[in-house]
Amino acid sequence: MNIILLGPPGAGKGTQSAALVERHGMRQLSTGDMLREAVKEGTPVGLEAKAVMDRGELVSDDIVSRLVDENLAAMPAEQGAIFDGYPRTAGQADDLDRILAKNDRSLDHVIELEVDVEALVERITGRFSCAKCGALYHETANPPAKEGVCDVCHSTEFKRRPDDNEETVRTRMDEYRAKTAPILPGYEARGIVQRVDGMDAIEDVAKAIDAILKC
Ligand code: AP5
Ligand code: MG
Repeated sequence: MNIILLGPPGAGKGTQSAALVERHGMRQLSTGDMLREAVKEGTPVGLEAKAVMDRGELVSDDIVSRLVDENLAAMPAEQGAIFDGYPRTAGQADDLDRILAKNDRSLDHVIELEVDVEALVERITGRFSCAKCGALYHETANPPAKEGVCDVCHSTEFKRRPDDNEETVRTRMDEYRAKTAPILPGYEARGIVQRVDGMDAIEDVAKAIDAILKC
């Protein structure tokens, strides 16, 4: 099973990917996470990407498609892949077709998380994650069960993303509208797009995705 989770910043792609990994042993391929890792490690890709990400703009197709290519090639053939935040441009959508074909895979579903854009700024500015294991939280919608302690690894250290401020979020949304939303019709023409109400509670969104995957 190979699926794309598509939706604007804060739609819940990372949250639902983590739930799919836990429930079904799929692997999350998040280009945002890969780029943040590269920035943290100070690799050449990270050095090139950092300023672009801080502005909320898109990193070049070449860089992100190469990251996806390398990560997919390293996966066992039988493990399902969740593409989170990729593809984001028409060029990346073409790259993904090529990368999947090379690995004898094909796309099963493109799941669009439909959200009310105005609610997203609040979601993103309330987001934080565990500094140790990366588990995602929200101040009001999804806080840890015990305040100040990660549910998953019990760490007490949390962090916020540098691009999670209102100004950068607006640029990220503009980029989504201008470059990412236009790739949907191509997938619609293939009959593989399914829509889920991303404004529902996290568990209900997860159930709706499971219903699409029939598992
Ligand atoms: P990336 O990391 O992909 O960020 P994004 O697309 O802007 O999406 P987010 O991670 O902000 O949101 P999400 O949909 O994962 O939401 P989440 O589950 O965290 O990309 C960052 C940057 O990297 C880009 O701007 C770009 O520069 C670069 N980049 C990455 N990929 C690229 C590519 N392919 N090409 C070029 N450049 C690329 O949820 C958000 C919050 O809401 C959380 O706090 C969560 O707890 C809460 N929440 C989730 N679901 C719900 C719900 N149903 N109800 C209430 N709260 C909820
Ligand atoms: Mg994310």
